[in-house]
Amino acid sequence: MKIAVIGTGYVGLVTGTCLAETGNDVICVDINEAKVKKMQDGQVPIYEPGLDLLFHRNIAQDRLKFTTDLAMAIKDAQIIFMALPTPPGGDGAADLSYILGAAKDISKLITDYKVIVNKSTVPVGTADKVRAVFSENTDVEVDVVSNPEFLREGVAVEDFMKPDRVVVGTTSERAKKLMAELYGPYVRQGNPILFMDERSSELTKYAANSFLATKITFMNEIANLCELVGADVDAVRKGIGSDSRIGKRFLFPGVGYGGSCFPKDVQALVKSADENDYHFAILKSVMDVNEKQKTILVEKVLKYYANNVQGKHFALWGLAFKPETDDIREAPALYIIDALIKHGATLTVFDPEAMANVKALIGDKVNYAENAYDALENADALLIVTEWSVFRNPDFERLESTLKNKVIFDGRNLYDLEKMIDLGYYYNSIGRKQ
Ligand code: UGA
Repeated sequence: MKIAVIGTGYVGLVTGTCLAETGNDVICVDINEAKVKKMQDGQVPIYEPGLDLLFHRNIAQDRLKFTTDLAMAIKDAQIIFMALPTPPGGDGAADLSYILGAAKDISKLITDYKVIVNKSTVPVGTADKVRAVFSENTDVEVDVVSNPEFLREGVAVEDFMKPDRVVVGTTSERAKKLMAELYGPYVRQGNPILFMDERSSELTKYAANSFLATKITFMNEIANLCELVGADVDAVRKGIGSDSRIGKRFLFPGVGYGGSCFPKDVQALVKSADENDYHFAILKSVMDVNEKQKTILVEKVLKYYANNVQGKHFALWGLAFKPETDDIREAPALYIIDALIKHGATLTVFDPEAMANVKALIGDKVNYAENAYDALENADALLIVTEWSVFRNPDFERLESTLKNKVIFDGRNLYDLEKMIDLGYYYNSIGRKQ
């Protein structure tokens, strides 16, 4: 099939590349000339495991192309994906100007039937708004389809190639047929393509992310309680996760959820509920609890040093909001760094992928280490914020000889509690005995 993808951000690029991988002719459009030029020269603009291979393979096979020329890109396309940003506007509601702007541009260029697929996360009713833009500007028939993405950063390629489900919001039989054909190769194992109306599909995306954010937040609160009552959150997690109604995944407590999706989507759903005179109480609490959880490690540090970290120096491992990404949007590390600096401490940080992004954002407010161990030089304590695999099994002897004190605040519960006690560490983690 011939596909155009508008927007080469993380979602657009993964979608375009993975659609090319099953033999479609894909052309990706972006207004950013420098970025397009880079991709034309074979450079992948984001860090996403597994993407490089597919990107280069499909470019080499002439199935994946990049352009700034929208007219050329959509001319022969049967399906046009829109993967454009929907940042929170001033009032917390998703800003649709990129999507509606692109819809207008497309509507003025098309001369034959197209399926317009919205991949971005958008409030309920957006498909109707997009459809209205087309009706205003063209007589050419289009079907506007909602097709939310459920990709996780770090495993996006795998999630696209083998999705748990594909959600397609459309009531048009013609569009349904094309979408079923397009996604067929990705659901061969029997996972469903769920067809529904556009509004349900749009809400499914927000409901999924908000549910997962709630699940994590619930576990974070259980962890906080565990510390107070002397229970162990790992045991509780396993205890409840074995119930198939609850499930084992997404039950790991930590320093709060971050990233470009959960915080934005929870906020947008609350806003959307407000607009419909519905007080989404549970999600409002989720937002409040998560805000506090992002600096839980700072509270622990302050308590340990009797509220005085003036002149203390800390090593911090992990800046990305989660492992296997260089994404630092809403990353708890940034809040932790900010709070500790305000309290008069200094930091040396290390992250396998996200250092450049942090440097671009906060410059020399912190020191940057070449590797995890260098970060420990002269540090009064180590703070662990992101659960990169490389931090999971460190050389504890080297740790001990480099750190000034055997003190670790672990926001991701990477180490066995008994082992840390045996090794003589003061080891403060989340939801476990301190
Ligand atoms: C999330 C969803 O998982 C995807 O399905 C969705 O497509 C995506 O948002 C999106 O809307 O684009 P992502 O933000 O990449 O994906 O990351 P997750 O792996 O879901 O993690 C989100 C946050 O939750 C991270 O800060 C992570 O550290 C935290 N988390 C996750 C926990 O604290 N505990 C857990 O058990 C799991």
